[in-house]
Amino acid sequence: MTNTMWGGRFAEAPDAVMEDINASIDFDKALAEQDIAGSRAHALMLADQGIISAEDAKRIVAGLDKIASEIAAGTFTFSRALEDIHMNIEARLAEIIGEAAGRLHTARSRNDQVATDLKLWVRDAIDELDEQLHTLQEALAEKAEAHADAVMPGFTHLQSAQPVTFGHHLLAYVEMLQRDRDRFADCRRRLNTCPLGAAALAGTAFPIDRQATASALGFDGPAANSLDAVSDRDFVMEALAAASISAVHLSRFAEEIVIWSTAQFGFIRLSDRFTTGSSIMPQKRNPDAAELVRAKTGRIVGALNALIVTMKGLPLAYSKDMQEDKEQVFDALPSLSLCLAAMTGMVSDLTVDKNAMREAAGAGYSTATDLADWLVREAGLPFRDAHHVTGRIVAEAEARNVALDVLPLDVMQSVHPAISKAVYDVLSVEASVASRTSEGGTAPENVRKAAKAWRARLADGAG
Ligand code: ARG
Repeated sequence: MTNTMWGGRFAEAPDAVMEDINASIDFDKALAEQDIAGSRAHALMLADQGIISAEDAKRIVAGLDKIASEIAAGTFTFSRALEDIHMNIEARLAEIIGEAAGRLHTARSRNDQVATDLKLWVRDAIDELDEQLHTLQEALAEKAEAHADAVMPGFTHLQSAQPVTFGHHLLAYVEMLQRDRDRFADCRRRLNTCPLGAAALAGTAFPIDRQATASALGFDGPAANSLDAVSDRDFVMEALAAASISAVHLSRFAEEIVIWSTAQFGFIRLSDRFTTGSSIMPQKRNPDAAELVRAKTGRIVGALNALIVTMKGLPLAYSKDMQEDKEQVFDALPSLSLCLAAMTGMVSDLTVDKNAMREAAGAGYSTATDLADWLVREAGLPFRDAHHVTGRIVAEAEARNVALDVLPLDVMQSVHPAISKAVYDVLSVEASVASRTSEGGTAPENVRKAAKAWRARLADGAG
């Protein structure tokens, strides 16, 4: 049997392998809801324009409603012989309403249809991700406010650098997630033009109303150029690019969670709800959720890579290559969504060991910069000289195996005579963070203010 949708000039049915490589129904059934919404808008517009009769439009819409409920109930039979979701739905519509079903595809092609469906799907996914990013920001900002003055080591090269506060560290991620949201919002804004009515590639001779279908589907307006409308997959690439950057942010945070929850660091404790045990080592509490968040970045970035390579060198307008966009985005965006949910759970539940953090914050001569700054301020040394003097003092402390804030004054004075006992005021980790009051700095008063501002902004629904 040849395909009833396009089999007019075919004498033979497709080979089984042809069906295997060609059929997309196994994955594009995820577009059912969007496809039905698009068809409903198209049918109503055709009737309003007098291209089909009002009765036919009514039958089509009723049939589509029935199909929607069959799909929701799980009673719809998807057929690989019918290739994709568009032809599966149209074939079922013909079974339900008969001849009128054949009028639905007037002034339309699967090319503008699939582009429209996918835009609707990606748009919904972006809206959901934005919600989830917002929720994670709220969890982080809340924890940040609670731990605005919890001192921890700040690292560069993962070596003790300068003390910071845990709240400050968490707020760094709130900023990163905001940029992620902005990137998704920007992608959504550019995405929001409607391909429907571009037909196969050249537009149509029927007197359609593209404004009407665009607005019925929540688009800002029709896509301007019919060739571009059917061949554009920028919106998928952009969404995957935004998702990739966001996944990279989450993976960095996941890595820190893994490190912080080791016995060696012991800065945080993850809840039982977000850890797993070992089948052989009874003491283990493994941060599997964090590790999987870290790992899923691979598939998300992989999806971006796969689609970009698929699109490279495709001539205008539609090519079947573009069918390969779907599995990537259907996997990547839900993967990111799962990562966000897991991250939010971990953050909300985690508890902090302030003492362990504080102790680690003092290790590695982390207040050496404070000493150098003191020499600049109080002894008038140029910073480069102060840096050198401090380096020698750190070497003295290291030789005695003591921290800077307990190194005897005479030892310091032997390196530089201008040092007085007032220097000890700046050598504690608390004094160090408290002094970092510059805009965006880690001083607890700054952090408290920033956390409050974020919480207010996020509660506003904005952000
Ligand atoms: N299943 C196809 C896809 O995902 C729909 C468009 C097919 N168009 C065509 N001219 N064969 O891209």
